[in-house]
Amino acid sequence: MSYSLFSHGGGLFLLRYFHVLAGIVWIGHLYYFNFVQGAFFAETDAATKSNAIQKLVPRALWWFRWGAMITMITGVLLYMGNGNYIPNNSPALTITLGMALGLVMWFNVWFVIWPNQKIVIQSATQVAQGGQALPTAAAAAAKAGLASRHNVLFSIPMLFFMLGAQHLGIAVNPEYNMGVFFGIFFAILGALEFNALKGKLGPLTTVKGVIHMGLFLTVVFYLMLEILTK
Ligand code: HEM
Repeated sequence: MSYSLFSHGGGLFLLRYFHVLAGIVWIGHLYYFNFVQGAFFAETDAATKSNAIQKLVPRALWWFRWGAMITMITGVLLYMGNGNYIPNNSPALTITLGMALGLVMWFNVWFVIWPNQKIVIQSATQVAQGGQALPTAAAAAAKAGLASRHNVLFSIPMLFFMLGAQHLGIAVNPEYNMGVFFGIFFAILGALEFNALKGKLGPLTTVKGVIHMGLFLTVVFYLMLEILTK
């Protein structure tokens, strides 16, 4: 008796299953930090905020960063398992855009948000124990918040393209000018990521603003797909 999961297709299915499960953990915590915790910290008293930073935030950051790591690893393995690498057809092109956004988000989690949040947690713990706040804590909190808010922006087109790979058939001319298409795509993504590392929140300051900008970015990338791949 053969079991469907114990086949190449079954293996890819399990990868896809754990990919989406880990993705829910990751993005779920990203939206919690940006849509819930931020507003609460702005309103609550200093003692409650300090307690939360010492005892709640580290727990949430553990699930957040390891959710991101498992999503990334299963995603890359899925990509390798699919074997459809040249972005001259709709599934390969769409998932390439989704993966570019996802990998930038993963980088921001592990190399910007987590290192800076560790400074914020350390400083709050030191103050609670009667010590001095770390002089870098305020800047670290701002850097983590900026990168995190940009991850919300990127998450909206990212998920559009993740699902689009198998469920949105774009009529792609295999001879389209990839240089122009990816030149524009990576110029936009690069400029936004530069702002995520060195810039300002601007229209992303409010939850409403980041959701609207995320939907707008999705429309821009979708129209690029429809217009520049013919
Ligand atoms: C580093 C980040 C990521 C990488 C490298 C990645 C990679 C991939 C790949 C290669 C696929 C398969 C596409 C195909 O079916 O041809 C995929 C599908 C998918 N990914 Fe991701 N992904 C990433 C992040 C995420 C995140 C954060 C989520 C959020 C929940 C997500 C949700 C999905 C979904 C829902 C699918 C489609 C499953 C289907 O159509 O059956 N991915 N991803």
